[in-house]
Amino acid sequence: MAGTCIIGLQWGDEAKGKLVDLLTKNMDVVVRYQGGANAGHTVVVGDAVYKLHHLPSGIINDRVLNIVAAGVVVHPETILREINSLVDRGIDVQGRLLLSDRAHVVMPWHLIEDQLWNVAVSGENNIGTTLRGIGPCYRDKVGRSYAVRVGDLLRADFADRVREIVAARLPVLRAMAGEQAVDLNAEAIIAEFTGYREQLRPFIVDSTQILLDLVEQDKRILYEGAQGSLLDIDHGTFPFVTSSNSSGVGISAGAGVAAKWLNKVIGVCKCYSTRVGGGPFPTELLDETGERIRTKGREYGTTTGRPRRCGWFDAVAVRYTRRLGGIDRLALMMLDVLSGHDELKICVAYELDGRRIEHFPGSADELRRAIPIYETLPGWQEEITEARDLADLPEAAINYIRRIETLVGCEAEFVSVGPDRAQTIICDSSRAPINAF
Ligand code: IMP
Repeated sequence: MAGTCIIGLQWGDEAKGKLVDLLTKNMDVVVRYQGGANAGHTVVVGDAVYKLHHLPSGIINDRVLNIVAAGVVVHPETILREINSLVDRGIDVQGRLLLSDRAHVVMPWHLIEDQLWNVAVSGENNIGTTLRGIGPCYRDKVGRSYAVRVGDLLRADFADRVREIVAARLPVLRAMAGEQAVDLNAEAIIAEFTGYREQLRPFIVDSTQILLDLVEQDKRILYEGAQGSLLDIDHGTFPFVTSSNSSGVGISAGAGVAAKWLNKVIGVCKCYSTRVGGGPFPTELLDETGERIRTKGREYGTTTGRPRRCGWFDAVAVRYTRRLGGIDRLALMMLDVLSGHDELKICVAYELDGRRIEHFPGSADELRRAIPIYETLPGWQEEITEARDLADLPEAAINYIRRIETLVGCEAEFVSVGPDRAQTIICDSSRAPINAF
């Protein structure tokens, strides 16, 4: 099994970091292939908690090679801070971290622009980005003229390039900023990035070639998705999405590895739904039940600290992203958070303009008008964080899992009942296959 992929099936924050860490013990390589410092992956090992935004979650395991591939947008300051904090905690990354020279760099002007847009676009049109410069950086990548790649940091003409881009960008940013001052000084940026360049130099390589070699050597490679499929730029709830292909379709493009080398795709979802930032969210709970889920699930953003919007499990959405990603097995996360409810609801279809629909609408306007049609299941009162086998769970929890599997059309291989590695139920994979309804 050379290529295993971990993909989020909702709006991100599905606890993918825990699963990557769990699977890493059987891997040689972990690859991040899209997104950037907007991600927040938490790995808990015993008493130690690692919060990673930029580095692949495999970095915690000192046996594993980690690749930040071409499709990622790199924020040098964040990546260096993470490297240094791991070194301070006794985790050496030298020789275990490769940074693609093809990856694009998030520059100071991208951060300023992200901020300015966030202020300029208000109300229901506000995407509520993580303010990490992701959209502007990917836009410059596609636009090409003002892009900066990691490999460019090493070029002799880097300083001239910064001067050229700052001269072009400053008037635009000042026009956007109106009364606000814009602080963008080419010489200061050159000095700052010269420092980053020297620290990053040992990690910068042509990782595409190296990864292709590793694939051909049949190494065990884990592709770690960031964000979730519903935030995919092409197939998510546009425009309330991130600027990369965060669903399963993005793996090949971002990593530079053909689909035929990807053997198994695990779709990760919470047993309820969350979303941070703006955009439609049909099953959102704006009541006390939503607040209970937020409190018990500690649903606050790893990157921005924002409270996450919480809601019931949306089987229409996850069935869609399961199909989009070609998912082989599910990982159902945070089941323990649902203990203590008399009943639980699952969205099985929507009512859209008076009609029942069972597909996920392609437009944000339609999704905003979609009214969830729920099925109600009995809840359970017991705490389940000590469960290590499906048989340890209350019957209502098992029924809840089975119903999700049936509605989504895919079996669960993992059920998570707490943040620690050990708090994971590995389901029997020899069960009879489940047919999508
Ligand atoms: P951006 O990726 O910072 O441009 O943000 C675009 C949208 O994606 C916003 O709604 C963010 O809240 C959301 N987003 C970006 N990264 C993550 C993530 O890792 N988890 C959850 N939501 C995210």
